[in-house]
Amino acid sequence: MDEVFGLFPTPFMRARGVLGGELVRALVGHFAARATNDNNSSPNLSHTEMLKPSDSPLFGEAAGLIKPKLADFGVHLFGERLPWAVKEMWVNVLDTGGRQAMHNHANSFISAVVYLTPTHPGSQTVFMKSPGGSEFMFRNDHAATKPTEFSADKWVSPAPEPGDLVLFPSYLMHAVPPNQGERRITLSLNAIPAQLNSWGYVIRFGG
Ligand SMILES: [Fe+2]
Repeated sequence: MDEVFGLFPTPFMRARGVLGGELVRALVGHFAARATNDNNSSPNLSHTEMLKPSDSPLFGEAAGLIKPKLADFGVHLFGERLPWAVKEMWVNVLDTGGRQAMHNHANSFISAVVYLTPTHPGSQTVFMKSPGGSEFMFRNDHAATKPTEFSADKWVSPAPEPGDLVLFPSYLMHAVPPNQGERRITLSLNAIPAQLNSWGYVIRFGG
Protein backbone atom coordinates (compact mmCIF):
# COMPACT_ATOMS: atom_id res chain seq x y z
CA MET A 1 0.00 0.00 0.00
CA ASP A 2 1.25 3.48 -0.83
CA GLU A 3 1.99 5.71 2.13
CA VAL A 4 1.99 9.50 2.44
CA PHE A 5 3.88 10.94 5.41
CA GLY A 6 3.00 14.32 6.93
CA LEU A 7 6.52 15.67 7.46
CA PHE A 8 7.21 18.22 10.19
CA PRO A 9 3.61 19.05 11.07
CA THR A 10 2.71 22.09 13.17
CA PRO A 11 1.20 21.26 16.57
CA PHE A 12 -2.04 23.02 17.46
CA MET A 13 -3.82 22.09 20.68
CA ARG A 14 -7.41 22.65 21.73
CA ALA A 15 -8.30 22.17 25.41
CA ARG A 16 -12.00 22.55 26.01
CA GLY A 17 -13.55 24.17 29.06
CA VAL A 18 -10.23 25.07 30.74
CA LEU A 19 -11.77 28.15 32.36
CA GLY A 20 -15.08 27.60 34.15
CA GLY A 21 -18.20 29.71 33.56
CA GLU A 22 -17.77 31.77 36.72
CA LEU A 23 -14.20 32.80 35.90
CA VAL A 24 -15.12 33.51 32.25
CA ARG A 25 -17.96 35.80 33.39
CA ALA A 26 -15.70 37.54 35.91
CA LEU A 27 -13.01 38.17 33.24
CA VAL A 28 -15.58 39.62 30.83
CA GLY A 29 -17.15 41.72 33.59
CA HIS A 30 -13.82 43.14 34.72
CA PHE A 31 -11.86 43.55 31.48
CA ALA A 32 -14.38 44.32 28.70
CA ALA A 33 -14.72 47.93 29.87
CA ARG A 34 -10.93 48.21 30.24
CA ALA A 35 -10.24 47.31 26.58
CA THR A 36 -9.57 50.90 25.58
CA ASN A 37 -6.37 50.51 23.53
CA ASP A 38 -6.92 50.89 19.79
CA ASN A 39 -5.69 48.29 17.37
CA ASN A 40 -4.26 49.29 14.00
CA SER A 41 -6.21 46.61 12.12
CA SER A 42 -9.73 47.78 12.74
CA PRO A 43 -11.69 50.52 14.49
CA ASN A 44 -13.98 47.86 16.00
CA LEU A 45 -11.16 46.01 17.74
CA SER A 46 -9.73 47.13 21.07
CA HIS A 47 -7.66 45.51 23.78
CA THR A 48 -6.62 46.00 27.37
CA GLU A 49 -3.05 46.76 28.35
CA MET A 50 -0.75 43.74 28.57
CA LEU A 51 -0.43 42.50 32.13
CA LYS A 52 1.61 39.89 33.95
CA PRO A 53 -0.55 37.23 35.69
CA SER A 54 0.62 38.66 39.04
CA ASP A 55 -0.83 42.09 38.15
CA SER A 56 -4.44 40.84 38.34
CA PRO A 57 -6.03 38.18 40.58
CA LEU A 58 -8.34 37.14 37.71
CA PHE A 59 -5.41 36.75 35.29
CA GLY A 60 -3.49 34.91 38.01
CA GLU A 61 -6.33 32.42 38.46
CA ALA A 62 -6.64 31.92 34.68
CA ALA A 63 -2.85 31.48 34.29
CA GLY A 64 -2.87 28.82 37.03
CA LEU A 65 -5.44 26.79 35.06
CA ILE A 66 -3.62 27.30 31.74
CA LYS A 67 -0.09 26.45 32.95
CA PRO A 68 -0.45 22.63 32.92
CA LYS A 69 -1.64 22.88 29.32
CA LEU A 70 1.46 24.91 28.41
CA ALA A 71 3.64 22.11 29.82
CA ASP A 72 1.65 19.50 27.84
CA PHE A 73 1.90 21.49 24.62
CA GLY A 74 5.57 22.34 25.21
CA VAL A 75 6.44 18.63 25.00
CA HIS A 76 5.45 18.77 21.32
CA LEU A 77 7.67 21.80 20.70
CA PHE A 78 10.77 20.85 22.69
CA GLY A 79 10.50 17.12 23.47
CA GLU A 80 10.61 17.68 27.22
CA ARG A 81 8.20 18.68 30.00
CA LEU A 82 9.60 22.11 30.94
CA PRO A 83 8.46 24.68 33.50
CA TRP A 84 6.56 27.39 31.62
CA ALA A 85 5.64 30.95 32.56
CA VAL A 86 2.89 33.13 31.16
CA LYS A 87 4.72 36.27 30.12
CA GLU A 88 1.79 38.59 29.38
CA MET A 89 -1.98 38.39 29.08
CA TRP A 90 -4.55 40.76 27.61
CA VAL A 91 -8.24 40.84 26.63
CA ASN A 92 -9.47 41.63 23.10
CA VAL A 93 -12.93 43.04 22.38
CA LEU A 94 -14.03 42.58 18.76
CA ASP A 95 -17.29 44.38 18.02
CA THR A 96 -19.51 43.66 15.05
CA GLY A 97 -17.60 44.47 11.83
CA GLY A 98 -14.19 44.37 13.53
CA ARG A 99 -11.33 42.17 12.34
CA GLN A 100 -7.79 41.24 13.33
CA ALA A 101 -5.11 41.36 10.61
CA MET A 102 -2.63 38.54 10.04
CA HIS A 103 0.13 38.56 12.65
CA ASN A 104 2.27 36.42 14.93
CA HIS A 105 3.80 37.00 18.37
CA ALA A 106 7.45 37.98 18.86
CA ASN A 107 9.70 37.07 21.81
CA SER A 108 7.51 34.15 22.77
CA PHE A 109 7.31 30.37 22.18
CA ILE A 110 3.69 29.43 22.93
CA SER A 111 0.78 31.76 22.28
CA ALA A 112 -2.78 30.98 23.29
CA VAL A 113 -6.33 32.23 23.08
CA VAL A 114 -9.17 31.62 25.52
CA TYR A 115 -12.62 32.35 24.12
CA LEU A 116 -14.74 34.27 26.63
CA THR A 117 -17.94 34.74 24.58
CA PRO A 118 -19.59 32.75 21.79
CA THR A 119 -17.85 33.28 18.42
CA HIS A 120 -19.74 33.82 15.16
CA PRO A 121 -18.70 31.02 12.73
CA GLY A 122 -17.35 33.67 10.33
CA SER A 123 -14.83 34.95 12.86
CA GLN A 124 -13.27 31.74 14.13
CA THR A 125 -9.51 32.33 14.30
CA VAL A 126 -7.83 31.48 10.98
CA PHE A 127 -4.27 30.13 10.85
CA MET A 128 -2.09 30.63 7.79
CA LYS A 129 0.97 29.09 6.29
CA SER A 130 3.94 31.44 6.48
CA PRO A 131 3.80 33.82 3.50
CA GLY A 132 7.50 33.18 2.78
CA GLY A 133 8.94 29.75 3.29
CA SER A 134 9.77 26.91 1.00
CA GLU A 135 6.76 26.58 -1.27
CA PHE A 136 6.69 26.25 -5.03
CA MET A 137 6.38 29.55 -6.85
CA PHE A 138 3.40 28.07 -8.69
CA ARG A 139 -0.20 27.67 -7.63
CA ASN A 140 -3.04 25.42 -8.66
CA ASP A 141 -6.18 26.93 -7.13
CA HIS A 142 -9.48 27.14 -8.97
CA ALA A 143 -13.09 25.99 -8.61
CA ALA A 144 -12.21 22.32 -9.02
CA THR A 145 -9.30 22.16 -6.55
CA LYS A 146 -9.88 20.80 -3.06
CA PRO A 147 -7.30 21.94 -0.50
CA THR A 148 -5.76 19.24 1.65
CA GLU A 149 -3.65 19.52 4.80
CA PHE A 150 -0.64 19.64 2.45
CA SER A 151 -1.89 22.08 -0.19
CA ALA A 152 -4.06 24.48 1.86
CA ASP A 153 -2.57 27.80 2.83
CA LYS A 154 -5.04 28.55 5.59
CA TRP A 155 -7.02 26.66 8.22
CA VAL A 156 -10.07 27.76 10.20
CA SER A 157 -9.77 26.64 13.81
CA PRO A 158 -12.66 24.63 15.32
CA ALA A 159 -15.79 26.38 16.59
CA PRO A 160 -15.00 27.44 20.17
CA GLU A 161 -17.23 27.60 23.26
CA PRO A 162 -16.63 30.12 26.06
CA GLY A 163 -13.88 28.75 28.31
CA ASP A 164 -12.10 26.86 25.52
CA LEU A 165 -8.33 27.33 25.14
CA VAL A 166 -6.20 26.92 22.02
CA LEU A 167 -2.40 26.83 22.02
CA PHE A 168 -0.07 27.26 19.07
CA PRO A 169 3.60 28.04 18.36
CA SER A 170 4.11 31.80 18.58
CA TYR A 171 5.59 31.99 15.06
CA LEU A 172 2.35 30.74 13.47
CA MET A 173 0.52 33.45 11.48
CA HIS A 174 -3.13 33.98 12.38
CA ALA A 175 -6.00 36.44 11.84
CA VAL A 176 -9.68 37.00 12.63
CA PRO A 177 -12.04 37.67 9.69
CA PRO A 178 -14.64 40.47 10.02
CA ASN A 179 -17.04 39.74 12.85
CA GLN A 180 -20.57 39.34 11.46
CA GLY A 181 -21.92 38.43 14.89
CA GLU A 182 -22.20 39.86 18.38
CA ARG A 183 -19.29 41.29 20.38
CA ARG A 184 -16.56 38.61 20.58
CA ILE A 185 -14.23 38.69 23.59
CA THR A 186 -11.03 36.67 23.94
CA LEU A 187 -8.12 36.43 26.33
CA SER A 188 -4.69 36.15 24.67
CA LEU A 189 -1.38 35.25 26.21
CA ASN A 190 2.26 34.57 25.43
CA ALA A 191 4.39 32.05 27.29
CA ILE A 192 8.06 31.13 27.61
CA PRO A 193 9.85 28.11 29.10
CA ALA A 194 12.20 28.65 32.04
CA GLN A 195 15.13 27.59 29.86
CA LEU A 196 16.22 25.76 26.72
CA ASN A 197 19.25 23.49 26.78
CA SER A 198 20.98 22.47 23.57
CA TRP A 199 23.60 19.93 24.72
CA GLY A 200 24.76 22.15 27.55
CA TYR A 201 24.34 25.49 25.80
CA VAL A 202 21.61 26.89 28.04
CA ILE A 203 19.47 29.95 27.45
CA ARG A 204 17.34 31.11 30.35
CA PHE A 205 14.22 33.20 29.77
CA GLY A 206 12.09 35.44 31.92
CA GLY A 207 12.83 38.04 34.48
FE1 LIG B 1 -2.58 36.87 18.04
